[in-house]
Amino acid sequence: MLTPNDYLARGWEVVPCFLVNDLDKDLFMQIENHPESPGKSSWGTRNILYSFILSMRPKLILEIGAHIGSASIIMGTALKSNKFGTLYALEPQEHYFKLLCHFIHQANLDDYVKSLKIFSTDPSLRNYLVEPVDFIFLDANHSYSSALADIRLSAELLSENGILFLDDVGYPESSEMCSEGKGGVRQALKDFISVNSDCFKCIFLEHPFWLNPCGMAIVCRQNYSK
Ligand SMILES: C[S@@+](CC[C@H](N)C(=O)[O-])C[C@H]1O[C@@H](n2cnc3c(N)ncnc32)[C@H](O)[C@@H]1O
Repeated sequence: MLTPNDYLARGWEVVPCFLVNDLDKDLFMQIENHPESPGKSSWGTRNILYSFILSMRPKLILEIGAHIGSASIIMGTALKSNKFGTLYALEPQEHYFKLLCHFIHQANLDDYVKSLKIFSTDPSLRNYLVEPVDFIFLDANHSYSSALADIRLSAELLSENGILFLDDVGYPESSEMCSEGKGGVRQALKDFISVNSDCFKCIFLEHPFWLNPCGMAIVCRQNYSK
């Protein structure tokens, strides 16, 4: 079992598992070091997204909040290795969206990653997602009400046995990131699960067991009456 001493000894650097042949390392470093990159997800989060995609071979993936594409590129690379599946990456802000499109193209991922310059609340999203989504990465607005709306949307879109990954659910970080002072994504997720526990189960990856104070959560939609 990890003890406080181990936390000091084990180090905080996560080894990335996604630096494979299908990913251009120079481009990856260019995105990592880009002046607009702060806000990107951790390598631990991207390790999980990458390995789940390789293991599950999902058909349809949705990323809510793609920013400049630090995680989109990693998920797209996994789809490219699978030679199967599509990621829809939502990014409403023009300057991030331009960089997102640029990096997807540079990474030769146009066949696997489709970027959309829309908010998750945009009704046109349904025109693209014409079947249930197997895999969702929610990493957008950190306020309680936006997070709750995005979690409800994800729950509606998710296929049976589909998985929702959420960033920025760490305690107490999530609360500090909430502009409404209502506990942010973590509280929104806890409130959602408390009234939907018949179909949705949630695991929180908690700091310092999880190596990043921003935390992460994994939610699965399943029929538990079977
Ligand atoms: C933390 S960043 C995302 C980081 C990215 N997922 C990564 O792993 O590098 C959050 C992004 O969500 C976008 N965003 C905010 N509200 C959104 C919404 N309702 N729908 C889609 N994107 C949203 C913001 O413009 C911002 O670029």
